[in-house]
Amino acid sequence: MELYIDTANIQEIKEALSWGCITGATTNPKIMSNEKGGYSFKDKILEIVELVKEPVSVEVTEEDFQGMVDEAKIYASWHENIVIKIPMGIEGLKAVAQLEKYENVKTNVTAIMATNQAILAALSGASYASIFYGRISDMGYDPVGVIKETSALYKELNIGTKLIVGSIRTILDVNKAFLAGADIVTVPFPILKKMTQNPKTEETIKEFNSIWKEMKEKGLIRLDQEIPARKLTFALANEV
Ligand code: E4P
Repeated sequence: MELYIDTANIQEIKEALSWGCITGATTNPKIMSNEKGGYSFKDKILEIVELVKEPVSVEVTEEDFQGMVDEAKIYASWHENIVIKIPMGIEGLKAVAQLEKYENVKTNVTAIMATNQAILAALSGASYASIFYGRISDMGYDPVGVIKETSALYKELNIGTKLIVGSIRTILDVNKAFLAGADIVTVPFPILKKMTQNPKTEETIKEFNSIWKEMKEKGLIRLDQEIPARKLTFALANEV
């Protein structure tokens, strides 16, 4: 079970990484367009890669086999942790086979909406296959079924392709994707943040801390040593 962050925003990536539960990042042309214009694509990707220190998916935009392979080779040459997102389709599958078998480039077949497509991605040799949870729901189909079938087939046939679930819209999507067998779920930052929150958790912590504060104020408990909580938080934030 792994969580990736689905963003190209540096602040979001830094913040999420500091929580210690993120082991990769995914981008796509739409995600890149959310960032302020005028930046260098290569510099931005390298900044993300240096921060994440784990796989970062970067998507090609060419639409034919040769174009995709050429574009993928350029991005992959920037850093060994760059994984190339190749859109599902005939040209894409050809590009995946070429890149994985002959060019030593890791690929992530993207925009998968059905089990049959996930089967093809795996058999073409893709390192990762990305099923789009929200977009499958948009069509009125059940993404859980697609994830369950794909996960079962990959396990049964001992296929090494890792199953990523993206296009996450709610925190329930994350839970359901993992329960259905996703190896990795890639989550936008706002949803990641919501995953930390629960009103009952907040109420409980408030209750415990106010009791503790009262005990200290009334002198009912003596602390033998002050805990330098602020210094500790500061040190952790600075490490990021
Ligand atoms: C996954 O790798 C994609 O980047 C992403 O999750 C697509 O999600 P969307 O449906 O929100 O565009």
